[in-house]
Amino acid sequence: MSNLVLIADDDDSLRHILAAALERAGYETLKARNGAETLACVKETNVDVILLDIWLGDANGLELIEDIQQHNSTASIIIITAHGTTQTAIDAAKQRAYGYLTKPIDQKQLLDLVSRAASATSQTKNIKAAASPEFDRHGKMVGQSSAMQDVYHKIGRAAVSDETVLVFGESGTGKELVAQLIHQNSGRVHNPFVVVDCGAMPSSLIESALFGHVKGAYTDAHSPRKGKFQQADSGTIFLDEIGELPIEVQMKLLRVLQEREVEPMGGTETHAVDVRIIAATNRRLETAIAQKTFREDLYYRLNVIPISLPPLHERKEDIPELIDLFTSQFVEEYQLPEIGISTEVVKQLTAYDWPGNVRELENAIKRALVMCSGQMLLPEHFDPILEKSTPISEPGQLDTKVYAILKAHIERYIESEAPPGELYAEIREIFEKPLFKIVLEHTNGNRSKASDILGINRNTLHTKLVEYKLVS
Ligand SMILES: Nc1ncnc2c1ncn2[C@@H]1O[C@H](COP(=O)(O)OP(=O)(O)OP(=O)(O)O)[C@@H](O)[C@H]1O
Ligand SMILES: [Mg+2]
Repeated sequence: MSNLVLIADDDDSLRHILAAALERAGYETLKARNGAETLACVKETNVDVILLDIWLGDANGLELIEDIQQHNSTASIIIITAHGTTQTAIDAAKQRAYGYLTKPIDQKQLLDLVSRAASATSQTKNIKAAASPEFDRHGKMVGQSSAMQDVYHKIGRAAVSDETVLVFGESGTGKELVAQLIHQNSGRVHNPFVVVDCGAMPSSLIESALFGHVKGAYTDAHSPRKGKFQQADSGTIFLDEIGELPIEVQMKLLRVLQEREVEPMGGTETHAVDVRIIAATNRRLETAIAQKTFREDLYYRLNVIPISLPPLHERKEDIPELIDLFTSQFVEEYQLPEIGISTEVVKQLTAYDWPGNVRELENAIKRALVMCSGQMLLPEHFDPILEKSTPISEPGQLDTKVYAILKAHIERYIESEAPPGELYAEIREIFEKPLFKIVLEHTNGNRSKASDILGINRNTLHTKLVEYKLVS
């Protein structure tokens, strides 16, 4: 099927020249003379590439790009700029476009750029297909916010290009998922995808882990070892937390990027490697560069295709779709009965700020499904996230709080003049009384349900309720 190119330009003769050149090269074309016609074409057809004059008579180029992307988020936009267009307009438009051409338009450049833009579009479409609900869950990425549309677009570009990619994003925003998607949609898909967490390895080991070593390279190197780069040969290497890479090792990595060969530690021989590099970082490397803990030259070598994942609180419109995705994933994984989600839950989860980003949301849903015994996810299943203004995101933090409360109580008990021998009963009461009270509130006083939830015998529960004066 040939690709459909929309030519949006108010210059009649240019429109026809461009259309003729593209048709000769096998493209189908559509022409639009102004913003309104452009939008109509985008709405009515499924164009692959749009050549867009940013000075389109009736329309502001930048706003038009936004409108186009609302209706067709996969098409690659190539902007056409003329002399005299203000630089700021061009810069702003470039950020959202696949590429740009300057008038007078060179035919070879035109065909070259349109051909690359068309493959980027088809890659983006593939990724979207991979992200659609019918598709295999593996590697699925969802979210329709414009920030995520931009991410899909860049993943598509990166997948076809084989260039080095640098992924930025706070913890839990999906950096590794992006790396997997690029690999899976690239020509290297049938070759290895090797992950190295540069932050998790002691600096003494990282060099040999990455580049390997020869026998006797250091005291414990009893036998030679291939490094991750050689393991990833003909595939992709994902260098996570690249900002943590010790400065000595950065020099060696730079060499791999420049020469495409590795030199195992302790050796003199080099080995050629054919590896696509995707690096990720959760902090801005500019600061590290300023502090001289990250090499600037390495940064530029890595930052060929930057992909930035915004924190989840900056794209709240994606939250409902993520909730649906994770719920259906876990329902399937744990073979749970179908479960609904109350609108109140969606509302409250969308209002929450998610400091741990998508990963925190994913974990919250997993926990909620475990807590939920009915057919509906309710706000209380998301305690303590939705209850407290300062969320307890780590279970360890709860332990710490309980520990602090108990310690204070126990110390007070020991220092007081109270008769010894009551401590165990006292502490037990502190926990059991609210525990039973809360569970009973949830079951509307139904003791048989409460004993089921608690996992204790009904008679035991009754005795305790009497003891704590929770029933008469
Ligand atoms: N847009 C998304 N759609 C679906 N799932 C997502 C999305 N973003 C992230 N996830 C899921 O959230 C979890 C965290 O993502 P990932 O591990 O890629 O994040 P990360 O940025 O590498 O985090 P960290 O810095 O903690 O390593 C994964 O289970 C991933 O599949
Ligand atoms: Mg990660």
